[in-house]
Amino acid sequence: MTQPAPAPLRAAVLGLGMMGRHHARILQALPGVAFAGAVDPAGDRHGAVRDAELVFPSLERLLEATRVDMAVIALPTEEHLPAALALADAGVSMLIEKPLAASSAEAERIIDAIGRRGLAAAVGHVERFNPSLMALRERLLAGQLGDVFLVATERVGPFPERIRDVGVVKDLATHDLDIVRWVADAPIATVSAQTAHRTGRPHEDLVLVTGRLASDVPFNTIVDWLTPTKTRRTRVLGDRGMLVAETVTADLTFYENGRVTSDWTSAQALRGVSEGDATRYALARSEPLRTELEAFRDLVAGDPDAPVVTLAQGLAAVRTAEAVLESAAGGRTVQVAP
Ligand SMILES: NC(=O)c1ccc[n+]([C@@H]2O[C@H](COP(=O)([O-])OP(=O)(O)OC[C@H]3O[C@@H](n4cnc5c(N)ncnc54)[C@H](O)[C@@H]3O)[C@@H](O)[C@H]2O)c1
Repeated sequence: MTQPAPAPLRAAVLGLGMMGRHHARILQALPGVAFAGAVDPAGDRHGAVRDAELVFPSLERLLEATRVDMAVIALPTEEHLPAALALADAGVSMLIEKPLAASSAEAERIIDAIGRRGLAAAVGHVERFNPSLMALRERLLAGQLGDVFLVATERVGPFPERIRDVGVVKDLATHDLDIVRWVADAPIATVSAQTAHRTGRPHEDLVLVTGRLASDVPFNTIVDWLTPTKTRRTRVLGDRGMLVAETVTADLTFYENGRVTSDWTSAQALRGVSEGDATRYALARSEPLRTELEAFRDLVAGDPDAPVVTLAQGLAAVRTAEAVLESAAGGRTVQVAP
């Protein structure tokens, strides 16, 4: 006899800003999920929720009106802690947008509250679900590059006016600090950083990080809110060439080291002796946020192997961001707490 389909999970979104509106769009159409509602005291300014009756001014009002099994916290970073504690109190599983919290102390309080209730939880490091980075990592771990020499990331672009509570290190570089650790499959051991404040805001708007993974591979990251064009690139250099993921377009290219020799010495000198073929892979381009929410839904539904970014990994990114800020402030290399 076939089993009846499980009841859909009731999902909510807290915050209908730039990020929350996309979570709401996807959750209203995700199989296995029933949209329970959204919370934003400023209302639904982007028209993200189809049924206006499902927009609530506070979490309390939402929870009075309906049952919620899982929620996405898409609030300004400083609001993650109170929202996560309130959801944990109400027994609601949660996906918390990155960075997990504004500080590692706050992240630890969130982890503790969720752990005590035994709830499912994940962190929204959505780059992990970008097809180009997923394919890069798979190829890297399969040994395509041989020995890895360097992981380098670049995340630069204009300032998004709405972010006021944290600087570029916690807001954006947490993506890179998570990506570097994840693609190379080793924790970050040390960081040495420089920051700059160019636009008169209280927090930094540019950071350069050089560091080393526990596997001894060096890495390098540049992140800013000062560049007029947007770049999101992860480059891994190894024995056999280089893989480059561009996450804005979800492109992955392999630049192979050359195997042929030539006697055309002047051209060789200009191009470098080991330039070989370049291959841009054809990738299935699923929307990363949808893949992330599918994984979270599966986790809440009871799949312990759902490929979510864990709270411990979210905490590691925040701790590494703090080490970056400490390094920049003190002008020295900082060991990252394990
Ligand atoms: N994963 C990513 O790539 C990515 C991208 C952008 C932002 N983010 C993260 O998403 C979060 C939200 O960022 P954003 O850019 O959407 O911000 P935003 O300012 O555009 O939106 C935040 C929304 O939350 C609402 N809000 C504030 N306090 C609230 C409360 N207590 N309850 C309910 N709603 C409240 C505001 O009215 C606003 O509409 C941040 O943590 C940010 O770091 C992640």
